[in-house]
Amino acid sequence: MAAVSIGTVVLVSALLSGVVYHVTQQVLTHSGERPNFIIILADDIGWGDLGANQAGEKPSYTPHLDQLALEGKRFTDFHSPASTCSPSRAALLTGRYGVRNGVTHNFAVQSVSGLPLNETTFAELLQDAGYFTAMIGKWHLGHNGPYHPIKRGFDYYLGIPYSNDMGCTDTPGFDLPTCPPCQGGSQQSSERGQGCYTDVALPLYENQSIMEQPLDLWSLTEKYTSAAVRILHSARERKQPLLLYVALAHMHVPLAHGGVAEGEGVYAVTLRDMDRLVGAVKATSDLLGKENSLILFTGDNGPWEQKCQFAGSVGPFLGQWQTSRGGGSAKTTTWEGGHREPTVAYWPGKIPANTTSGALLSGLDIFPTLLSLAGVDPPKDRKIDGIDMTDILLGKTDTGRKNLLHPNSGAAGIYGDLQTVRVGSHKAFYLTGAATACGGGAGQAQLHDPPLIFDLSRDPEERSPLDPWSEEYQAALQAVEREREALLWDIANDNVSTANYAKKQAAEPCCNHSLPVCRCKPLTLS
Ligand SMILES: *[C@@H]1O[C@H](CO)[C@@H](O)[C@H](O)[C@H]1NC(C)=O
Ligand SMILES: *[C@@H]1O[C@H](CO)[C@@H](O)[C@H](O)[C@H]1NC(C)=O
Ligand SMILES: *[C@@H]1O[C@H](CO)[C@@H](O)[C@H](O)[C@H]1NC(C)=O
Ligand SMILES: *[C@@H]1O[C@H](CO)[C@@H](O)[C@H](O)[C@H]1NC(C)=O
Ligand SMILES: *[C@@H]1O[C@H](CO)[C@@H](O)[C@H](O)[C@H]1NC(C)=O
Repeated sequence: MAAVSIGTVVLVSALLSGVVYHVTQQVLTHSGERPNFIIILADDIGWGDLGANQAGEKPSYTPHLDQLALEGKRFTDFHSPASTCSPSRAALLTGRYGVRNGVTHNFAVQSVSGLPLNETTFAELLQDAGYFTAMIGKWHLGHNGPYHPIKRGFDYYLGIPYSNDMGCTDTPGFDLPTCPPCQGGSQQSSERGQGCYTDVALPLYENQSIMEQPLDLWSLTEKYTSAAVRILHSARERKQPLLLYVALAHMHVPLAHGGVAEGEGVYAVTLRDMDRLVGAVKATSDLLGKENSLILFTGDNGPWEQKCQFAGSVGPFLGQWQTSRGGGSAKTTTWEGGHREPTVAYWPGKIPANTTSGALLSGLDIFPTLLSLAGVDPPKDRKIDGIDMTDILLGKTDTGRKNLLHPNSGAAGIYGDLQTVRVGSHKAFYLTGAATACGGGAGQAQLHDPPLIFDLSRDPEERSPLDPWSEEYQAALQAVEREREALLWDIANDNVSTANYAKKQAAEPCCNHSLPVCRCKPLTLS
């Protein structure tokens, strides 16, 4: 145990999200103490939603995140490991592509299982190493028995087991219809649109108990904020290193976040709400010893374009080749808008302030980086796709990944396969596919042999593929094929897990089976 010197005792009161927290704390100076990790993941957020990513070009709705970038590092070429929810989260937590960890699709309300049990999350490893591990928010990796977050490495859990649109609520927000339960309705059929609703209501868990069903979406931010603040304080009081993983419901529809501002749309108001939560977490972490806490903010996949004004902005990453042929080019696709994420890291005294990194990085890289910073060994009986980005965070280098493969996330009706390959600034598509656009067009899946190759440094809009007869194309193709073949060989020789996507009605989370939509009275959160 390294030396810890004790400073003065201070009394602090902070006004956060309308609640006053009084804290008596010892200010410690740390040397060699293991760092705290706060990982914040937004849902369906677009690269262009972060004010700092488009400074001067449009108003910013993210002042706290912009401040985080000003005091830390902003990443401009950071990608989610997949373009939909469950695969992206599984890859983040295991450092492995879906074709290795088995999670290539989203799990459903009735899913019996989740992330395969012999996959290892960074939470499990940090928990074993003595960290207090807490998760707030959306899990979406299986909610039954051994698949629940409490069994996958988290000491504490508060949140929703899957997306906020997967189930009925009385307070649905934009853009879900209200869903009153059928009188005496059975739960055998979904009758949405028939004037009543029998699908299971959206639950809020604390640990493994359902506290509220249906949950009140409009008070979720406040609950998450108070829990985060309380967890930060209690870990500090116990002097225990902390992993806090906050997987927000924000920016996924339904948008249900308060504070109407004049002239601002629902999406912008929701961005502000999310940003305030990030600000509250930062303020609390700063109070408790900012020199020992890494805060990293990123997203799980790009905007859900089909939701029109309730979807985020891809910034300049428009996927023009696709959109000019019909269909959307964000969430579910391997176009940049599907996976390039607004990403910011903050660690005062460690990460140089007001810096920008253009290194090619992925959510896959969080796993090895956290383990490395905590001095924990990764598992040795499997291959990890992430790289340790510590030196990039610390500003010692700006060389990121050699390659990054983008799994198909359903855009072409294909899941998991690695048919989009990034090497340097070149990106090759062996298969293109579209998402449903705002307005309904869905485009066509198309195979490409030879692949389409774009140079993102000149063409971030992915508008004009390189001429296949050009020298640049030929050199890029060689590099792409080399990296892709090496990776596919590596995967073929790895321990690869398979997820069980079976569904059963009994797998639905339900606090009172005798009631339509599984209603129960809210219990009191701890
Ligand atoms: C959840 O776990 C924490 C301990 O980590 C405990 O303090 C709290 O009471 C638990 N809540 C419920 C509802 O079990
Ligand atoms: C942050 O960096 C930008 C670009 O290098 C510079 O223009 C700006 O003055 C810096 N801001 C602060 C507060 O250091
Ligand atoms: C796969 O697992 C087996 C048994 O645990 C182990 O011996 C082997 O080294 C592993 N393979 C890889 C590629 O890590
Ligand atoms: C998980 O178990 C399956 C089935 O035994 C095996 O094929 C796979 O290699 C295991 N995964 C890991 C990471 O060891
Ligand atoms: C479940 O609902 C029934 C019917 O309203 C009610 O009588 C019972 O008390 C409820 N049970 C719980 C645990 O809430």
